Amino acid sequence: MTDDELRQRGDLEPALGTWEAIDSLRVVRQFAPRPLEVWAVERILNAGRRAGSSKNRQSWAFVVCRDRPHLEALAAVGPYAGHLAGATVVVALVTPDPATADAPLSIMWDLGRAAENMVLAAWELGIGSVPATVYDHGLARELLGYPAGWHCEFLLSFGYPADPAVLTAPKRAGGRRPLAEVVHEERW
Ligand SMILES: Cc1cc2nc3c(=O)[nH]c(=O)nc-3n(C[C@H](O)[C@H](O)[C@H](O)COP(=O)(O)O)c2cc1C
Repeated sequence: MTDDELRQRGDLEPALGTWEAIDSLRVVRQFAPRPLEVWAVERILNAGRRAGSSKNRQSWAFVVCRDRPHLEALAAVGPYAGHLAGATVVVALVTPDPATADAPLSIMWDLGRAAENMVLAAWELGIGSVPATVYDHGLARELLGYPAGWHCEFLLSFGYPADPAVLTAPKRAGGRRPLAEVVHEERW
């Protein structure tokens, strides 16, 4: 069912405004067994697809993985990728290889925008997520099958949180540097 059809049925009332979603977002590494609805996964993927990109290149591909043995194998791509094994859906973020592409910084900027769109669209639906960084690129290529000249630096785990309280939990003290430390006026 498309977002438009769901909206007509009244099933798509936004749960969070933009600021509320940004301000309450935190990573989730433990997921409930509840499956993700087909339309919710489509919404998340569309959120990534809708991101703006340098020269509108849209130089990304998303590999959606759901089979438990596949997710368990993917968990070996990096030392901090264990959460992939317990995710409900994993989206591997694949780009032209930044080592050989002519605008590698733009490619990664654009990918970050697409990823954050996905993460926030999921959070609005009560779906948690967390990135995984790839260290073993040979294994990632073997498991995901993307062609030569393409590269996977990050994957995203998605799922309903094992503990739904994380969706509304107060922020961790000291979780982010204060504005006064990161903002400069006119010049650094
Ligand atoms: C580029 C990037 C790579 C990350 N890689 C991993 C990872 O490999 N494994 C992991 O568990 N978390 C990973 N994270 C999640 C960060 O640890 C998390 O965003 C950070 O601790 C802040 O968490 P919070 O938003 O819940 O405060 C990554 C985050 C980013 C932005």
